[in-house]
Amino acid sequence: MSDTAQLIIGDKTYELPVITGTEDEKAIDISKLRDQSGYVTLDIGYKNTGATKSAITFLDGEKGILKYRGYSIEQLAEKSTFIEVAYLLIYGDLPTAEQLKDFQYQLSRHTLVQEDMKKFFDGFPQGSHPMGQLSSLVCAMSAFYPDSLKPNQTAQEVNLSIVKTLAKMSTLVSWIYKKSLGHPYIYPRNKYDYVTNFLYMTFGQRTEEIEIDPVIVDAMNKLLILHADHEQNCSASTVRIVGSSDSNLYASLSAGISALWGPLHGGANQAVIEMLEKIQQDGGDTDKWIAKAKDKNDPFRLMGFGHRVYKNFDPRARIIKKACDDILEKLGIDDEVLQIAKKLEEVALKDPYFVQRKLYPNVDFYSGIIYRALGFPTDMFTVLFALGRLPGWIAQWKEMKENKEPIGRPRQIYTGEVNREYVDIDKR
Ligand code: CMC
Repeated sequence: MSDTAQLIIGDKTYELPVITGTEDEKAIDISKLRDQSGYVTLDIGYKNTGATKSAITFLDGEKGILKYRGYSIEQLAEKSTFIEVAYLLIYGDLPTAEQLKDFQYQLSRHTLVQEDMKKFFDGFPQGSHPMGQLSSLVCAMSAFYPDSLKPNQTAQEVNLSIVKTLAKMSTLVSWIYKKSLGHPYIYPRNKYDYVTNFLYMTFGQRTEEIEIDPVIVDAMNKLLILHADHEQNCSASTVRIVGSSDSNLYASLSAGISALWGPLHGGANQAVIEMLEKIQQDGGDTDKWIAKAKDKNDPFRLMGFGHRVYKNFDPRARIIKKACDDILEKLGIDDEVLQIAKKLEEVALKDPYFVQRKLYPNVDFYSGIIYRALGFPTDMFTVLFALGRLPGWIAQWKEMKENKEPIGRPRQIYTGEVNREYVDIDKR
């Protein structure tokens, strides 16, 4: 097969190289197109545009496949831990026992945050959204840890910023939760692994010792692994594009957190539970809400359904659904909202509207039910997504830097007014 594609514009033919990825994905390389022809391509929403070459995550939306660094999400969710997966994503290979021990040790040395950062928590009004807090706090880390601002950082210096971010993020997320309750902050304990420590800081009390249930640690590890990366999604692309201007790691990650916040992206997990609760309060008539989702004059969408890339099923949703059943059973929780979710899924999967448009439950459809069962308030859900996605964002940022990618700067097709004469204000 030819390794070039031909583009014919008028009487000119342009030869464009065809690129093939390691999973046999094909792309037409148009990087020289404008120089050669004067044309740009137009692809609003980037549905057909590859923004980079990446060796981190592969997904096949038609077949419902997701792999991190070549390992299937099913195997990683079953056998691995979040920290091992974080190492895999960031450094490229699964760690040896020695490397993992060292990584965990490094992380445990950096979980404390500068005491002055606590003043930010005092400044946020009670009830302010945790995602706004997290985005601000992560950006503010550049003020407290200015080493990240140094141009041309060595690999060791970059690595230190990476370790600090991973370690401190768990402390910041748990303190956001404590602030929402008005409870005192709980300091990290080095004797715990990353996930146990996070749960300890979140659900622990200064007044008494608590035992962290291994069932909950396991569920949390799974959830964080499933969210750890998802190739060039809205937030990962944001992190890469902000980082491409040589912005520091903290600023790039803070932008990624802001991108994740939207209900069409990570914010969907909060929106799903709010939707299910609304349906429950409304009497639980799922047919009525399915009809609303199908009505083009009604802005309502079935949250947790549909995906830009998965057009068969979301493999993360399948794992999460099972984990959800397991955890509710183990914790002895009978959640009416889960029954509504199951009914919605059953009806939607048979309905021609959803079938024709290939709309299936996505990862966010079930994650919120687990977070709820674990005791997290609804507005913390997207922050938990961010905690899970952090290694993916870091890996994407690091890869972009190592590949020395140029500043991201898309073109446009201008559709505005042409050549207007300035009119003085008294004549308008
Ligand atoms: N409920 C009802 N109709 C839908 C839905 C939905 N959830 N999602 C898509 N559609 C319809 C849409 O109206 C359109 O219909 P038509 O062809 O008649 O105009 C068709 O399906 C295609 O939709 P689209 O908006 O062009 O698809 P997209 O690829 O641009 O959007 C999406 C993907 C995820 C933004 C969208 O499916 C959606 O809004 N879903 C609900 C929000 C959600 O669950 N987001 C979480 C995504 S997974 C977590 C993550 O990775 O961020």
